[in-house]
Amino acid sequence: MSERGVPKQLFIETYGCQMNVYDSERMRDVLMPLGYVLANKPDEADLVILNTCHIREKATEKVYSEIGRLRAHKERRRGEGKTTTIAIAGCVAQAEGEEIIRRAPEVDLVVGPQAYHKLPELIARAARKTGDRLAAEFTAQEKFDALPARAPDGVTAFLSIQEGCDKFCTFCVVPYTRGAEFSRPVKDVLAEARALTDRGVREITLLGQNVNAYHGDGGAGLADLLQELARIEGLERLRYTTSHPIEMSDDLIALHGAEPKLMPYLHLPVQSGSDRILRAMNRKHDGALYRDIIVRLRAVRPDIAVSTDFIVGFPGETEKDFDATLALVADIGFASAYSFKYSPRPGTPAAAMHGQVGEDVKAERLARLQALLSHQQRAFNEAQIGRTLPVLVTGQGRQAGQMHGRSPYLQAVHFDDAHAEPGEIVTVSIVSSSQNSLAGTLGAMVAA
Ligand code: SAH
Ligand code: SF4
Ligand code: F3S
Repeated sequence: MSERGVPKQLFIETYGCQMNVYDSERMRDVLMPLGYVLANKPDEADLVILNTCHIREKATEKVYSEIGRLRAHKERRRGEGKTTTIAIAGCVAQAEGEEIIRRAPEVDLVVGPQAYHKLPELIARAARKTGDRLAAEFTAQEKFDALPARAPDGVTAFLSIQEGCDKFCTFCVVPYTRGAEFSRPVKDVLAEARALTDRGVREITLLGQNVNAYHGDGGAGLADLLQELARIEGLERLRYTTSHPIEMSDDLIALHGAEPKLMPYLHLPVQSGSDRILRAMNRKHDGALYRDIIVRLRAVRPDIAVSTDFIVGFPGETEKDFDATLALVADIGFASAYSFKYSPRPGTPAAAMHGQVGEDVKAERLARLQALLSHQQRAFNEAQIGRTLPVLVTGQGRQAGQMHGRSPYLQAVHFDDAHAEPGEIVTVSIVSSSQNSLAGTLGAMVAA
């Protein structure tokens, strides 16, 4: 509480990947006991945290324009006799912390992804205007040990089990912003999963930049960890993201055929269909290995759906390389995908490579790729019509009696049922589909 007994408002803006979503929740959990309430907009916030992403240039630029807006907010409040603390967290904080401090005096605090457990102390220090404004050391274990118990918002939750990356793809900043690969001990992950399940969570998505490179204590791999998690009663669904093709071990592939709690949906970034480009990217796999993994997954779990990431216009990419990407898409058939124009990032090897591709060529290739991918996504959703899917009820829809839920393939599903409770798994007959969601009716199978 503030001096007048009015709760202080906290506003957190989250950019980037699911790891940031998870981290924002943990920051909220560490700050709520200090008397903060969560605000939906920054207007009256006493503390504003921007949880930032450094992955592409656009994401980073957003941070500086947002800081500009917050400066005005801070000045307006100062005129009203109120103080505002501005904190920059996340991957831009880690990568460009010193520059932020230099360029933006209105920023009170810069905190890297592995120092969030220190937020209460750092905020107090910022208020006293003593000490360093920058906290950006790599201490993953300390962070996870020191953060408080979780308060989930619903029946699905993210759980970070691994941070950082040692793969050094030549385009990517993550090894620099998140540090070396670090895996949490099995018992810590199990304890967090049990606590979430006790609070009503039915589906957990394990997170890591390279989640299938997970190596717990005693040599446990991701497949071992998933098997342990599957034993937790009440925890009905498991997912993991993001995976690297070279870490798709035999036991992990086999588990997709053996463990019903493991959902038949895998996000497996490929980046390109050209072996020449994959080599230049230092991806350590080729198109054949990727195709082989998908064939093996479909052999043990025929209904598995696959999503992926692509980068178009990587330095040196020719029309022929790009055709190889389109061919890979046509061969595999993706349920969904993210695709991006290559963005040169400071300090990464690819940024200094010869043969940078022009923006117009990148834009044109991206449009062609996205047309194909969105066609596949629509076709995948349409193929669910007439099927009966087990749907995890996630909440109430906008209209009376309408509910929404999540399919095994991560699609949003809308259906009519006044009695379904969030957390239940119900059977829904799918009757229609759109680009991003499905609609159906509760109960028995309609004619397929
Ligand atoms: N750890 C994951 C994802 C990392 S970032 C993996 O290994 O695949 C998410 C996606 O952003 C990447 O899969 C890639 O497609 C994209 N990306 C990363 N760096 C990029 C860059 N410099 N330009 C464009 N897209 C990029
Ligand atoms: Fe980046 Fe590659 Fe690591 Fe993924 S595997 S986080 S793309 S360096
Ligand atoms: Fe962005 Fe950092 Fe995630 S750079 S994609 S927020 S790991």
